[in-house]
Amino acid sequence: MPRLPWVIKYRPKRVDDVVNQSEAKAVALKWIKSWVAGNPVKKAALFNGPPGCGKTSLVEALANEFGYELIEMNASDYRRATDIERIAKVAATQRGLTGRGKLILLDEVDGLSRLADEGAIQAILDLIKITKNPVVMTANNAWEQKLKPIRDASLLVNFRRLTKTDVKKVLRRICELERVQCDEDAINFIAERAEGDLRSAINDLEAVAEGFGRVTLKICKAVLRYRDRVYAPYEVVRKIFISKYAWQARQAASQTDLSPDELMQWINENLPLQITDPEDLWRAYEKLSRADVFFGRIVKSGSWDLLPYAIELMTAGVALSIVNDPKARYKWVKYQFPQKILLMSRTKEMRQLRERVAEVIGRHILASKRKVKNDVLPYIKIIFDRNPEYAARLAAGLNLDEHMIKYLSPQNAATISKMAAEIWRETAREALKKHAQPAKEVKEEARLPEEQQGIKGGVTEKKPKKRRKRKEIKGKGLDAFFKK
Ligand SMILES: Nc1ncnc2c1ncn2[C@@H]1O[C@H](COP(=O)(O)OP(=O)(O)OP(=O)(O)O)[C@@H](O)[C@H]1O
Ligand SMILES: [Mg+2]
Repeated sequence: MPRLPWVIKYRPKRVDDVVNQSEAKAVALKWIKSWVAGNPVKKAALFNGPPGCGKTSLVEALANEFGYELIEMNASDYRRATDIERIAKVAATQRGLTGRGKLILLDEVDGLSRLADEGAIQAILDLIKITKNPVVMTANNAWEQKLKPIRDASLLVNFRRLTKTDVKKVLRRICELERVQCDEDAINFIAERAEGDLRSAINDLEAVAEGFGRVTLKICKAVLRYRDRVYAPYEVVRKIFISKYAWQARQAASQTDLSPDELMQWINENLPLQITDPEDLWRAYEKLSRADVFFGRIVKSGSWDLLPYAIELMTAGVALSIVNDPKARYKWVKYQFPQKILLMSRTKEMRQLRERVAEVIGRHILASKRKVKNDVLPYIKIIFDRNPEYAARLAAGLNLDEHMIKYLSPQNAATISKMAAEIWRETAREALKKHAQPAKEVKEEARLPEEQQGIKGGVTEKKPKKRRKRKEIKGKGLDAFFKK
């Protein structure tokens, strides 16, 4: 049997196993009992608290103890409204096949971004309205503005940051159960570092015990590096602007999950909010533009060794550009989500569709996707807008799906799809008819000279064969849709 990580192995099975959190447990228990009794006042609960303090654990324990089937989703699984509608269908059904009620867990709702996932938040609200099963959401910070509607629609259950004593207690128990020799000062060191995050404490303990067979302070100090916390984008941007020294800005940039070019967008769009002195601003943008040149070269030639220069320029370079008005860096500013990233995420589907269409056409005309996008798609779009009949033949021949047709011509999509479907049916009927011919006729046809079989040219026996083959590859069946 594969070895389970300790965080999973020692995850609370029952509500009583969840350490501390007595208030949260009391509120949650009362709520779930109201569901069991069939008269819940609030249909959803929002579990709010710092990382690794037992939110997800309590949901699992509740499901376990009250016999609910747990349906667990992470923010990445329900980004779009359609994802939630799928869950909603499940939520609206009272009992599953097993006869058990379901407990729906939308983990980490604060992972949804207010604008990019706008539909998702509305869809969650609709889900809460119709659900016939308890819904729990978790968040590290339920007080974020974007979560207000969800907060209003749910029962807020607040979790505390676990104390060092709580963390030490759990670590000691695990050491006992795992029969690992563990020094008290080492446990103290791990608990101190964890800052109330039991998950990270258990992981640290496991890493040391696994690697060394025992846990001493000396090993812990040598093995466990200072934990690099990951900060939210706006915190990182603030840290960069506030940096007086290059290393501070550099360090801030290493504490984010954002990709370097996303971080650059964050800096780029928030820079004029923080810095107002024209000369400082000019200097900072000069650095950013140079960083951008490096990024361009990295993308074009794949020279990743240029990345450190780009990062240095956009972080330390920007921070050290603030010379004339150094106080500006301490001004409190509400940063905004970069419009470019928003736009890119909104147009993502459209861009993917464009890629797919270009790929299909490229395969047929043996051209690269880039060439198709630049030189062919504009004309195809004109055809789709102006000549639906011809477009339908193209669509049928290229086997384009409805979404692709809609991309090529939103206004004619319905007509073209209908006509293309008809062409397909007709072609299929013809093919059927051909196959249904008596075997003798087919044989006769095979004996006819090639010119009469519709293949031109060909003096020798070999040549026409070759040509036919090439033609097949080139047209890939497209010609069949234009032979009339
Ligand atoms: N209060 C607790 N009692 C017992 N174990 C806990 C507690 N809190 C955390 N743990 C342990 O830490 C692990 C992670 O906890 P959990 O997933 O519940 O954290 P969380 O509050 O949901 O954190 P996040 O916000 O990061 O999702 C669990 O698997 C469990 O082993
Ligand atoms: Mg969790």
